[in-house]
Amino acid sequence: MLYPLLRSALFQLDPEEAHERTVRTLNTAIAVPGMASILKSIYRPATRGMSTTIAGLSFAHPVGLAAGFDKHGDVTHGMACLGFSHIEVGTVTPRPQAGNPKPRMFRLSAEQGLINRMGFNSDGMAVVAQRLVSRPQGLPIGINIGKNRDTALADATADYLAAYTTLAPHADYVALNISSPNTPGLRQLHETAALQELLGAIRAANAFLQKPIFLKISPDETTEQLEQVIATAIDYGISGIIATNTTVTRPGVTSASVDEAGGLSGAPLNTLSMATLRAVVALTQGRVPIISVGGISTAADVYARLKAGASAVQVYTAMIYTGPALVALLTWGLAALMRRDGVSDITHIIGTDR
Ligand SMILES: Cc1cc2nc3c(=O)[nH]c(=O)nc-3n(C[C@H](O)[C@H](O)[C@H](O)COP(=O)(O)O)c2cc1C
Repeated sequence: MLYPLLRSALFQLDPEEAHERTVRTLNTAIAVPGMASILKSIYRPATRGMSTTIAGLSFAHPVGLAAGFDKHGDVTHGMACLGFSHIEVGTVTPRPQAGNPKPRMFRLSAEQGLINRMGFNSDGMAVVAQRLVSRPQGLPIGINIGKNRDTALADATADYLAAYTTLAPHADYVALNISSPNTPGLRQLHETAALQELLGAIRAANAFLQKPIFLKISPDETTEQLEQVIATAIDYGISGIIATNTTVTRPGVTSASVDEAGGLSGAPLNTLSMATLRAVVALTQGRVPIISVGGISTAADVYARLKAGASAVQVYTAMIYTGPALVALLTWGLAALMRRDGVSDITHIIGTDR
């Protein structure tokens, strides 16, 4: 209820500064004894009849935190207090890097969207691995990995392998990010030969730990490219697809920031992300679970993604506009929709509207 007030204060600040202050405030708050429990009870999500299992991992309900909010693993405990069923840290690169010059994140308030060109600002894998030694327990923590900007595309696999090797022991799953639009050439890893090389190397490296490996894809691929990506992912035994990252297109955006370079997220991405989900569902035919991301901001959105065939969803941008109660709002809203339709268990609706 208080968030609209707080939001108007935060929206006076540069978006990245607002993000950093939010993270600092949350970390300061949960350092106060008893505060984590208070936050957990205020933001308690609905869980009854909502648990799902993806690649052997248990999710208490379908709503997780998308990559990019906690790039360096320094607010996992705080975000766990806000009720997320899983948290994806990252993208983490092997070596620390600064990312693009600021400003690099822009609000599109009229459309409830964001454009960002962060460019994988990362504390680097060694620091993040150390931080995640004391990660929260009781919910899956994924680590999303990528390559350094100055690593040639031809050497990308070595970067992913290095990040996998250092970070996988501290993660419940590893997400391979081949879809950020802000690292030049990264999306070329959707091409079959490059993807085969990457997935083959990660599969071999993963033979011992056997962590679930998810592939995070872009919403901007052609139908042919998407067919190839999914066929390759299935061939190489990928455990799940995360669809989608941000888009370089600008559907329906009229805000002044429309011409900023970078990836668009939030409400304007909703239709494209849903269309990509439907295409991936058709291509996977139930062989691989899908986590749907992109423009989800209401319980009805979550319900629609599950019915379309997603096993879970992730959110980022809606949190900026809706605030810390987002997960509670989405899950209790979902519970109401399930009650309305006489659905007792979420698994009964997954894929019912393909
Ligand atoms: C500021 C910002 C930074 C992001 N950074 C990453 C990232 O490092 N790695 C990644 O895989 N996705 C990243 N994303 C993409 C989100 O994980 C998500 O796929 C996308 O924003 C769509 O979801 P949304 O509409 O709920 O925000 C970022 C998004 C935003 C807004």
